[in-house]
Parts: sequence; structure tokens; C-alpha cells
Amino acid sequence: MFMLRHYYVLFLLTIVSGEEYNLFGDAGQAYSMEIYLGTPKQKLNVIVDTGSTTLAVASYSRQDSDKYFQVENSTNLIDSGKEVQAKYSQGMWVGRLVSDYVEFPSLPQVPQVRSDFAVITNSQKFFMNGSGWQGLLGLAYLPVGAWGNKIVVGSWLDSLECNIGKSVSFELKLCGPQSPTNATHYGKFSMIVDNEKCKDKPRFYTPILHKRWYEVGVIGVNVVEMEVSSTNSINKTKTIYRAPYSPLDLDDCQMLNAEKSIVDSGTTNIRLPDEIFRKVVNEIRKQAQAGNILILDEFWYHGEAACWPESQQWTLPYLEIYLLHADDDRSYFTLRVPPQHVMLSFFKIPLLRSLGIFQNYMRVVSTHDNSEGTVSQYCYKLGIEAGGKDTVLGYTAMEGFEVLFNRSGGWIGWDISDCGPCARLEGPFYVRRSLLLDCELTKSDLEVAVSIKAAQWALLAVSIIAGAVLLYLLAPCLKFIYFKPRPNASRLSMSGEALVDQELN
Ligand SMILES: *[C@@H]1O[C@H](CO)[C@@H](O)[C@H](O)[C@H]1NC(C)=O
Ligand SMILES: *[C@@H]1O[C@H](CO)[C@@H](O)[C@H](O)[C@H]1NC(C)=O
Ligand SMILES: *[C@@H]1O[C@H](CO)[C@@H](O)[C@H](O)[C@H]1NC(C)=O
Ligand SMILES: *[C@@H]1O[C@H](CO)[C@@H](O)[C@H](O)[C@H]1NC(C)=O
Ligand SMILES: *[C@@H]1O[C@H](CO)[C@@H](O)[C@H](O)[C@H]1NC(C)=O
Repeated sequence: MFMLRHYYVLFLLTIVSGEEYNLFGDAGQAYSMEIYLGTPKQKLNVIVDTGSTTLAVASYSRQDSDKYFQVENSTNLIDSGKEVQAKYSQGMWVGRLVSDYVEFPSLPQVPQVRSDFAVITNSQKFFMNGSGWQGLLGLAYLPVGAWGNKIVVGSWLDSLECNIGKSVSFELKLCGPQSPTNATHYGKFSMIVDNEKCKDKPRFYTPILHKRWYEVGVIGVNVVEMEVSSTNSINKTKTIYRAPYSPLDLDDCQMLNAEKSIVDSGTTNIRLPDEIFRKVVNEIRKQAQAGNILILDEFWYHGEAACWPESQQWTLPYLEIYLLHADDDRSYFTLRVPPQHVMLSFFKIPLLRSLGIFQNYMRVVSTHDNSEGTVSQYCYKLGIEAGGKDTVLGYTAMEGFEVLFNRSGGWIGWDISDCGPCARLEGPFYVRRSLLLDCELTKSDLEVAVSIKAAQWALLAVSIIAGAVLLYLLAPCLKFIYFKPRPNASRLSMSGEALVDQELN
């Protein structure tokens, strides 16, 4: 009987369900999914976060939201009474370790399992005003879970694998917003039981170098010119790519991975070490100026928003990210992240006669309606930021791809997605020597283990909030107006803005 149930579950799990999106989020917030917790089931929303490990939900009413997990209502809850906590560079929470039944209504094939999680009893700068989520679903490995005194907080993924007796992989398909007037983004989270024949191997895959965060080898970052004739009609748009590959710079690749490079769906932006950030952004800005796009430096270097009365079609370069190939440590492949998400909107209202254009590293953070109910302005932020020594591939780098996290196999697979921006994958490209050695990616687990706790305190696993939504009034007669945000507004952001400020002043 017992075994039967397991086989039943396994069978169902391997059928990837149809295309129903189960991830949603507002501009500047990560992607969240509906969760049922406890008995009777309480419905909440949690961010899917590959940058942390612990499932954690609010258990108290906050100033901005009275939606939270009511611990005393669940008849099956086991409360350890033990304190656990997690801290991020800006923001932290303290809570209690409990265990209860966890289920995801959008993943009917995934069985309900009892799992450890944290009920957050106190937090600072963690929850956002008006955000649609009440917690985080951590999907990384145990070493970077929440911690307490001699406490290991089990992860939901581990509990699930233990329950079904099989390892599972999960896939994130993040699409970005659906239309230029609605900055709500959507996507799909799915789970796949690992076995030899269940799914085609992804086009490219990169090894997970250390099983803590999803740590990968970022071999380089490059800016690739894209020339588009300046017309709004897709028919006349001609795209010319320059030969993209500058020789790899070993200093860059060592710098990119000096601390660690991680794939983190809980972070908005692509975060690069300071020096590389400046190189990349200088180049993009240079090309913007060459193309007569006038944007102030505050936008490029200080994470501030710029607004226009129309949605923009950027003639800006692609951002390329080179990842170590799992097949051969002398090869790599590239993710090409476009400046924007190109979408046809013939069938939309005439106001949007131009193409609906937004995303990807030029991120729409808000649209604002005027009194007639039509969109009167579009605000953008740069989806690239400086981050000390870490490299973080936030969800800006994942939109337009299907990203398969194979925990047991130790790799992350990348495929082009059928939704979202026109991202591209290219490669493999070969070099003469081992990139593992040349880029110094071979630090032993022991060496890095020592720094985990310290790093955890510094890591912005949850810099979800990089795109704090800023609204400005726009004088309609001006083509482009730029306003400084109010000081309060910029503080809402958990991004590394402050850091960049210091660097540049
Ligand atoms: C929890 O229990 C209280 C009192 O019985 C009830 O008013 C409340 O609606 C319950 N909350 C949920 C989420 O079921
Ligand atoms: C959140 O909203 C509340 C009430 O709407 C307001 O008093 C508070 O200042 C807001 N907090 C932030 C950080 O904006
Ligand atoms: C924006 O789009 C999402 C789904 O893509 C939808 O659920 C939501 O209602 C839309 N919001 C508005 C204001 O149209
Ligand atoms: C593009 O060209 C096709 C056929 O040449 C035409 O039917 C279509 O309307 C054009 N689209 C635009 C946006 O001009
Ligand atoms: C994960 O990797 C293992 C080993 O490479 C493989 O057997 C398994 O099929 C993979 N799972 C998926 C879903 O691709």
C-alpha cells in the first residue's frame, strides 16, 4: 500500500503539467507562488528564491498587511520553540522553527509533505509595503539555511525528496511582464523527478561548483553592440550584430568569481563586482550616447528611475554572460540578455501602435495612468548593479530562459523559453586551457565553508526589492524628464545603491 502510493506519486510527478502560469509578481518584486500551510490549509504567497534555503513565512500582522500564517489555527503544527534567524545586507528576520504540512495548489502532482519552516515573529526591512507575498520558499542547499543555536532547519525540497524517496529537479520559466501597460510579471515553476529518460537534456548546462547557493562559474561579461534602424515598425527593423567575442580576460573572470557567482531568483538585478560593473555600464552608456539617448548618470550608476511619456524601444547593446560548460572545463556558452522585451501588440489599443517594449536589463518599474485611464508614462531602471565582490545572476538574467536546477546532478540547465524577452543562447566556445584553473574556480569546499556564516550575513539573498516603485508626474510637453526620487523612496530598495554612491562620489 505504502509503496503503491509512492509509485503513483512518482508517475504523476514526471508528467510536466500544461502551460498554466503559477508565478506572479509586481514590478521590482521577485516571482511568488501560492502555498497552503497547516491544517486547515491557510493560503499564502511565497517568493521562489534560489538564493536561500529555508521556507519562512510571516506569523504576525504588519503595518501594511494583515495577511499572515496563524500558527494557533493549525492542528498539526509542531512548534519547537527554538529561535532561528536570517539576515541580509539590508533586512533581517527572527522567527521560530516549526513543522507542519506544506502543499502547493499549482503543483497538484507534488504531494503534501511535512516540512520544517520558520514562522517569522519579527523583521526589519524585509517585508515590503504593498507586496503580494508573505514569505520565502528557499530552494538552495542546506548549508545556507536559516540558523539558530545548534539547529538545522530542514528545507522543503529535502523533505519532499525524503518523502517520495527520489531526487527532484525544478525548473523556473520566468517570462517578465505580459504587456507594456501592466508591469506585473508572470512565470512558471515546475518540478521534475530525476530519472534518465524523463526529459531531454537542456541545450547547455553549467556545473554547480559548491552546493550551498547555486554557485556557478561566470567566465566573463560582455557588451555586444546591436544596431537597429530607427523605426518603430518591426518590419523595417534590421538587426546587425558585431562579432561578439572579445578574447576572454582572465583578470575579469577571476574577479567575477573572487567571492562567488550565484544564480538567485530572489534578486531582481544582475549584480557585478564594482570594477566590472563600471566597465559594462560605461560601455552601455557610451553606446546610448552614440545613439542620442540622453539619460542622466544617476540612472546608469545610482539605480534611479527615468520616465518617459511613451514606452521606449531601446537601441542598446546586448549584455552577454559567459558560463562555464559542464561538459568540458575548457568550454563555455553565453546567455545574451537583450536590453528589452520585444512584444507585438497589434491587437492592443491604438495608443500602443508602437511595439510594446520593456525589459530586460532596462526594466519597466512602473506605468502610470492619467485621468483618462490611459497610460501616461513609463518608468525604467537599469537591471544591472554593483555589488562589492559577488556576482549575482538575478531574475533579470533568467527571463527568456528555461532554467533547470538539477540538485542531485549538480548542474543548472539553460534553454530558450517560449515566453518573455528574446534572450539567446550561444556556444559552446572552446579555449585552450582549463577555465576552472585559469579563473580560480577550484577552491575546495573546506576553504569556502569557513566563510559561509560571514557571507550569509553579507549576502543579499533577498534583495528582491531593487525596483522600489517610483512614480513621478510628467509634464506632457517634455520628451524626457528626470526626477530625483525622494530620499525615503530610495531607501526602500535593498539593492547595492549605497555602495555605488560611495564608489562614485
Ligand atoms: C483562525 O482562527 C480564528 C478563531 O477561531 C478565526 O477567526 C480565523 O478566521 C482563523 N484563521 C484562519 C486563517 O483560518
Ligand atoms: C507603509 O504604509 C504605511 C501605511 O500605508 C505607511 O504609514 C508607512 O510609512 C509605509 N512604509 C514605508 C516604508 O513606505
Ligand atoms: C496584469 O497582468 C496580470 C497577469 O498577467 C493580471 O493578473 C492583472 O490583473 C493585470 N493587472 C491589470 C491592472 O491589468
Ligand atoms: C509587416 O509586413 C507584413 C507583410 O509584409 C504586413 O502584413 C504587416 O502588416 C506588416 N506589419 C507592420 C507592423 O508593419
Ligand atoms: C539530473 O541529473 C541526473 C544526473 O546527471 C540525471 O540522471 C537526471 O535525469 C537529471 N534530472 C533531470 C530532470 O534532468
